[in-house]
Amino acid sequence: MIKRYDFSPFIHTGAVVKELPATEGTPLPFALFEQSFTLKMDKETRVFGLGETVRGINKRGWIYESFCTDEPFHTEDKRSVYGAHNFILVDGKERFGAFFDLPGRITFDLGYTDSDKIVITPERFALDLYIITGDSLKEIVGEFRSLIGKSYIPPLWAFGFGQSRWGYACQNDIESCADSYQQAGIPIDMIYLDIDYMDSFKDFSVHPERFPDLKGFALKMKDRGIRLIPIIDAAVKKEKGYAVYDEGLEKGYFCKDENGNDYVVGVWPGKSVLPDFLNSEASRWFGMQYKALTDLGIEGFWNDMNEPALFYSEKGLDHAIHSVQEMDGSRLDALSFFGARDTFARLQNAPDDYKSFYHNTPEGRFRHYDVHNLYGCKMTQSAYEALCELRDEPPLLFSRASYIGAHRYGGVWTGDNHAWWSHILQSLQQMPGLNMCGFLYSGSDIGGFNGNCTRDLLIRWMSFAVFTPLMRDHSAFGTRSQEAFAFGDTEVFRHIIGLRYRLIPYLYSEFLKAVENDAMFFRPLVFDYEDDETAARIEDQLMVGESVMIAPIYRQNADARNVYLPEKMTQIRMHGGGISTVELCKGWHYVSVPLGDVVFFAKSPIPLAKPARNTSELDMEDVEYIG
Ligand code: GLC
Repeated sequence: MIKRYDFSPFIHTGAVVKELPATEGTPLPFALFEQSFTLKMDKETRVFGLGETVRGINKRGWIYESFCTDEPFHTEDKRSVYGAHNFILVDGKERFGAFFDLPGRITFDLGYTDSDKIVITPERFALDLYIITGDSLKEIVGEFRSLIGKSYIPPLWAFGFGQSRWGYACQNDIESCADSYQQAGIPIDMIYLDIDYMDSFKDFSVHPERFPDLKGFALKMKDRGIRLIPIIDAAVKKEKGYAVYDEGLEKGYFCKDENGNDYVVGVWPGKSVLPDFLNSEASRWFGMQYKALTDLGIEGFWNDMNEPALFYSEKGLDHAIHSVQEMDGSRLDALSFFGARDTFARLQNAPDDYKSFYHNTPEGRFRHYDVHNLYGCKMTQSAYEALCELRDEPPLLFSRASYIGAHRYGGVWTGDNHAWWSHILQSLQQMPGLNMCGFLYSGSDIGGFNGNCTRDLLIRWMSFAVFTPLMRDHSAFGTRSQEAFAFGDTEVFRHIIGLRYRLIPYLYSEFLKAVENDAMFFRPLVFDYEDDETAARIEDQLMVGESVMIAPIYRQNADARNVYLPEKMTQIRMHGGGISTVELCKGWHYVSVPLGDVVFFAKSPIPLAKPARNTSELDMEDVEYIG
């Protein structure tokens, strides 16, 4: 059952698809105390949800701030990341889901200040609150999902493996990446184009020398079974003569400062302006720009920098330069030295900047800061709606920033993680939270985006990512190469990625079922085994679809781990491409997983396709059942 509590919403976010009457006089599960929603927890209470946030599956014990943030260090102390997903599921004496539909900043103190208390504080007390009850955790999630609408479904080929790297500078780099994969016999379906393909980082442009004939090249690659997936950034370069800028300027489609002038910020292209995605005309106009690339045969995109990430604002930069210039000639003591050093660092994603520009929407003019979490969400909607109009097939589309509602238009990747062992576990722990909020097509940068990856880390990460709907290896400019061919011995990767392709009939059909039934593709064990106290404590295993359970290795040099089986299951082991099975009883098992083996568990037999080099070769009907 869902009840809506209306605390004078000031904007309709579009997150909710089902109109519900406001509930009058029904007691809230929360007490209202000084503009906060509070709830006493008993010792056993668990709190799930909050989408892609850091830390465990049970979120109790930390404080989170829902405010889409370009945050490249996903360490435990972080309160905000790229997405803002205001849904929690309280599992204690009282059991309910709560969705705080508010596009501005909101703090979820889940036993941080007072270990027995939930305190939820919206910065502006103007929101719709939905309280969802049901007989089980799964049912509550199902009710919530039916409220927010069906999740995005990508094309089947988006379940293939994709290689990405910031720094593939030209057509030759892409071609040689494809050659290395295909010569090694490692399946691949997509190669991603990062900002290097653009001309001066201008959206919807193609660098004339690096990619002289993108249309011909995309066609040639598609003949080899590989689709090219370019990045699109949110901000538009401010440059007279650049058609996208000129047209947006003339039509007034960019966000404005308080005096009605375009708000100028610095991102990859240098000085840039921000399309007003909250304005439906501007949003449609931006979406239609994707035509420049769909006309070249492009069928999928990743939307980036759409929190929006700001390196600086023109105003802030002028001020910083001026204040540093004033120090010229003066002797700096340590404190003023650090102050000067941080002058420029503080410009990045400055709250003052988010407070200084505005959106013009049919519902009125809004200060960006108050509706901040909608920006990336509306960019995804803009792209999705236009792409469905421009092409007959649904696009591959995923985004970095998101808000609940965006799950109807695209997937998400979890942004700039690190080549750290802890980030394999973190990625696993982010998946159920994202799934609760409808983001089913999701995954993280395999091998880690920042930092230098090693062969064993990549093998273990891939062995987990075999199960994530979005399976993409991506890394930052200047880091060590981490493609599946980068470490010399390719056989192990041929087997692991090969297994992914063999699992696609299972993964894709379970994914479609999850969409259809408003269910989670990835579930913590407690969702399926509610009465099992041990299952309730497991933070490093997940159910995948109806029949599979995974328990990946995420520690350096570990070649075995404890695995909890909440019921009798078949252990399935892929070793050197061969598959073996063994029945295991309910309970704890110490399972050996040498590097290169992929081990998972099945409740019932699962279909396995014949090996394929890409999804167009994959025969979804010709399957054998194992387990
Ligand atoms: C951002 C993205 C990353 C991308 C980089 C360059 O950091 O999160 O994936 O590679 O920008 O475009």
